[in-house]
Amino acid sequence: MQQESENITGRVAIVTGAARGIGLAVATRLLKDGGRVVFGDLDGTEAERRVGLLDSSGDRTMALVLDVTRPASVRAAVDAPVDRWGGVDILVNNAGIAGRSLPLPELTDDDWRSVLEIDLGGVFYCCRAVVPHMQRQGWGRIVNIASIAGKEGNPNAIPYSAAKAGVIGLTKALGKELATQGILVNAVTPAVIETDILRQVSPEHVKYMVSRIPMGRTGRAEEVAALVAWLCSDECSFSTGAVFDISGGRATY
Ligand SMILES: NC(=O)c1ccc[n+]([C@@H]2O[C@H](COP(=O)([O-])OP(=O)(O)OC[C@H]3O[C@@H](n4cnc5c(N)ncnc54)[C@H](O)[C@@H]3O)[C@@H](O)[C@H]2O)c1
Repeated sequence: MQQESENITGRVAIVTGAARGIGLAVATRLLKDGGRVVFGDLDGTEAERRVGLLDSSGDRTMALVLDVTRPASVRAAVDAPVDRWGGVDILVNNAGIAGRSLPLPELTDDDWRSVLEIDLGGVFYCCRAVVPHMQRQGWGRIVNIASIAGKEGNPNAIPYSAAKAGVIGLTKALGKELATQGILVNAVTPAVIETDILRQVSPEHVKYMVSRIPMGRTGRAEEVAALVAWLCSDECSFSTGAVFDISGGRATY
């Protein structure tokens, strides 16, 4: 039985990429912990379906079509909870793609641009839209889902590793920028977590990544959600610009 974080009660959270995988687990956990949660995803139909299953009254949830690469779509996803609930307290930047697993010479311009624009550009656009609201209220929690690939670099995943390293840099810079304003910005760096994203990469690549995990297993989305929920709460109060490992022992830093 998961412990509820009482201090998330009533907080308004936006979770990007919340229709499935880690985003769904995080959004579900924040809802369970008493938050009001926007499930934003490119796949609005699945986000809607998930919300219907979790909160039949719709009192504490919203499902929105969101494309994190489009600033206008991001603005609309921020305006919706601000109009309905009066603000945004929590942003979890989770939407992302792995891209194709190929050696560098075989990567196309589109492989590079699409991964950078979704995985790094999306985090920038969402933070930029949300931070002024958090500044007005003097409280905020931003959690960016980076990856072990951003710390260590995975072969055959150049765009992904570069984008996730960028997310770590963005987290550190923004954490410092907002450090005295009550807004904490942290990142988590999962190793392999069992979700649909693994279908985008080759079985050899998954095997390589799992072989590097000392615990010898993949992680579960709920395990990531538990760490993220703490980072979204008042209990997390003296950490910002930090990178939290969740890799079954792969990273020792
Ligand atoms: N699963 C892993 O092994 C793993 C490991 C480390 C980091 N991560 C990161 O965790 C995050 C979630 O991954 P996951 O495994 O749950 O993936 P997933 O493929 O299961 O889910 C990703 C979700 O993001 C949505 N999405 C994609 N592009 C979008 C866009 N432009 N705008 C809005 N939504 C969009 C998809 O529709 C999907 O619902 C990603 O940032 C990923 O890089 C995953």
